[in-house]
Amino acid sequence: MSESKNISGSPSEPKATSTKAAAADAKATEPKATESKVFKNDPWYGSYAARADNMRASEIRALFATASRPDVVSLAGGMPYLDYLPFKELSELIAKMLVDKGDVAWQYGSAQGDPHLREDVLQIMALEGIKDVQPDDVVISNGSQNAIDLVTRIMCDPGDVVIAEAPNYVGALGVFSSFQVEVVNAQTDEDGLIPESFEETIKAQLAAGKKVKFLYTVPNFHNPAGVTMSVERRPKILEIARKYHVLVVEDNPYGLLGFDGQTYPALRSMDAENVVYLSSFSKIIAPGMRIAWIVAPPGIRKKLVLANEASILCPPAMSQMTITTYLDNFDWKNQISQYRGMYKERCDTMDAALKKYLPYCSWNKPKGGFYIWLKIPEGLNSKEMLPRAITAKVAYVAGTGFYLDGSGTHHMRLSFCYPTPDKITLGIQRLAGVMNNELKTAELFGTAKADADAHSAAGTDKKD
Ligand SMILES: Cc1ncc(COP(=O)(O)O)c(C=O)c1O
Repeated sequence: MSESKNISGSPSEPKATSTKAAAADAKATEPKATESKVFKNDPWYGSYAARADNMRASEIRALFATASRPDVVSLAGGMPYLDYLPFKELSELIAKMLVDKGDVAWQYGSAQGDPHLREDVLQIMALEGIKDVQPDDVVISNGSQNAIDLVTRIMCDPGDVVIAEAPNYVGALGVFSSFQVEVVNAQTDEDGLIPESFEETIKAQLAAGKKVKFLYTVPNFHNPAGVTMSVERRPKILEIARKYHVLVVEDNPYGLLGFDGQTYPALRSMDAENVVYLSSFSKIIAPGMRIAWIVAPPGIRKKLVLANEASILCPPAMSQMTITTYLDNFDWKNQISQYRGMYKERCDTMDAALKKYLPYCSWNKPKGGFYIWLKIPEGLNSKEMLPRAITAKVAYVAGTGFYLDGSGTHHMRLSFCYPTPDKITLGIQRLAGVMNNELKTAELFGTAKADADAHSAAGTDKKD
């Protein structure tokens, strides 16, 4: 196995890929030719807003039905494994809460979110060094996904630029596309976003007359790259953002899932004025409640509350009260620590299986979170290979789902969060069978095998 040194390309070759098409589409009034094929039977074809043309199906969602079949080992979805939650005790407590406080739980609530919950999240954020926040600084959202939508809604006009890591969280790409935002990638490596590349990217965009609205970053246990922004880089990124008056949107759903219980100082803990912080209960408790939270400087926070009101009126009272019931009655820190142990074991299992069955691939072993970002040999194409993998009863997400510009064919995301360790090993064995066959086929054309050997020997990683 060779350790990947660079997940998105050589730092010496900064490449800013962008979704210029998104901005162009913003101006377009006619649907494009390719879309006409898709929508030709739709009586509303021609009536949609330009932003609807920019919406794209998530490759993960598209896989969901097939990957959920019991005979398929799914290394595709990012679903947390919930079997360790105390379902019975929790259900009894929630039933009681719904009787005792039914008039609140079944009612509309505040657009900013339940004050009790806004108070409760302070203790969670303190674990990552955020200690200066008051309940009034917090806004509750319907999951972090909705939080990304709200922030983009209030900050971005069509054609504005968001700088992001590459590869990028697919759900954020979906939001940015739907708001006709240009996503420009800055370089990342095994220590996360590279400050020099971030600054170069801002400068290039400003020189091109663009408005750079924010940096979107997932600093801890990145989805899908698995990397964590080094502690040394964090103040540098913030300094650059301040220098160019670029807001930082810190999306942190995995920060408490470090396998050894380690945490990293949140960017928000170092800068209260230029960071919008997002976190979620989805991975540390469960996603079914759809509850997350945002901490923002006062001006932005006020706009977020208005955006929440316009979009959903208020976050669901019942979900919020379910979360507070859980936090107030259970040892949630112990629960998170149990999750960490389980995910660590699954990650170790996947790493060992990859070493054994796919030694010619490369990856960074993550220190937390849910994902391994696997580099496959040149000459293989993760997107084209997927139907063959599903036929062999293993599913993954092709790397192309995490870029807007068609990159990613030489990568795939493997999730170790949901399948049990024996399933993980079986899944990697099946994947190796598929990849070995692909390599044999490609060898007939004289490219893939040679590339795999060269790749394995050099221990290097190349850009997709
Ligand atoms: C980086 C990142 N941000 C946001 C989300 C969305 O989380 P939520 O369930 O809170 O909407 C996810 C979910 O996988 C994620 O990986």
